[in-house]
Amino acid sequence: MYIPGYYEFRCSVKTVAGHQALEAIPGLLETLDARRPMMITDRGVAQAGIVATVQGAIAPQVQPAAVDDSVPPDSDLDVVCRLAGIYRENDCDAILAVGGGSVLDTAKGVNILVSEDEDDLRAFEGHGKLTRRLKPLLAVPTTAGTGSEVTTVAVIADHGSKRKLFFTSPFLSPDAAILDPRMTLSLPPAMTAATGMDALAHAIEAYTGLAKNPLSDAHALMAIELIGKHLVPVIETPDDADGRLALAVAANLAGVAFSNAMVGMVHALGHAVGAVCGVPHGTCIAILLPYGLEYNMHKNGPMTAELLLPLAGAGVVARTPAHLRARQVVAVVRQLNQRLHQKTGGQHARFLKEVKAADGSAPVTIEMLEPIAEKALDDGSIFTIPKNWTGMTC
Ligand SMILES: [Fe+2]
Repeated sequence: MYIPGYYEFRCSVKTVAGHQALEAIPGLLETLDARRPMMITDRGVAQAGIVATVQGAIAPQVQPAAVDDSVPPDSDLDVVCRLAGIYRENDCDAILAVGGGSVLDTAKGVNILVSEDEDDLRAFEGHGKLTRRLKPLLAVPTTAGTGSEVTTVAVIADHGSKRKLFFTSPFLSPDAAILDPRMTLSLPPAMTAATGMDALAHAIEAYTGLAKNPLSDAHALMAIELIGKHLVPVIETPDDADGRLALAVAANLAGVAFSNAMVGMVHALGHAVGAVCGVPHGTCIAILLPYGLEYNMHKNGPMTAELLLPLAGAGVVARTPAHLRARQVVAVVRQLNQRLHQKTGGQHARFLKEVKAADGSAPVTIEMLEPIAEKALDDGSIFTIPKNWTGMTC
């Protein structure tokens, strides 16, 4: 909740980062008194050999009591309920989530059901419905984007009602986030680009929103600097393990920033484009980010200008007159999208008209703009933007 002049800051997640971070998992489980973890992941992660890498790193001390790799990209209540059944059948005592945002959020949903011994996740929708610690949850992100490994939030679809359900509680934070570059080395360039831009937007929106505070700012600025330095080089050199680790840390920092200072209109619109048109989250966010910055420029100019140093470096700041630095930040974000477009052979979309569905069709049409706008106005992310969308300032 945003209250002018007041803030709280929380990050209760232990982060373990490094080239051998996976090997810390057995010790982490031991400190949590867990011996029979259920590994939750998705098929793409399993097929990329990432599950095998994790299992190799934690053996022989830890053998998962169950492994399920069936989480779909847009997971929903039914998936969560089914996985909770598997957890119970195998007498598991912890969750090891290995995947992107959908896997990590699904694991959080499963953790609610198995910890509360319930079957209907909808009873816990909203803020603050949980009142006690959940089962141990370790999060191993395989993208450098969502930051879900450190957030107090889970977003899970209810396909029956065509809604996204939001769950927020301090008890949803994983016990530990494990950042190991081996988890993202095989991430395709377009996915690396889109998820990296999503993390950049988390940091920028946290820094320029009304709920910003000095603690979230510190996390946001470091995230922006790391992404500015490493995103394009990692696309150019995908096996750059140091760069991959830096991006994973950046996504983690940005996750802490927006978990405490919220996101803004870019995410409100991005959620709406995703819901109406089925466009992947990171793709929406990358496209919309420069427009969101421009829209809020008259209110956010000085804050936006401060981002030029972490994003582009001291040389660019020195060459840019002070009154042009905010505009230059927007230009740098556009250049970043342009470079990612070129480096991914055109797979990273710069505009909504460039987005292509699997069958080659264009999922975003002019007719969809109105339902997108309506849905965006109903999104919780608009509460901390500096100007509302009716033209009134706050
Ligand atoms: Fe995001």
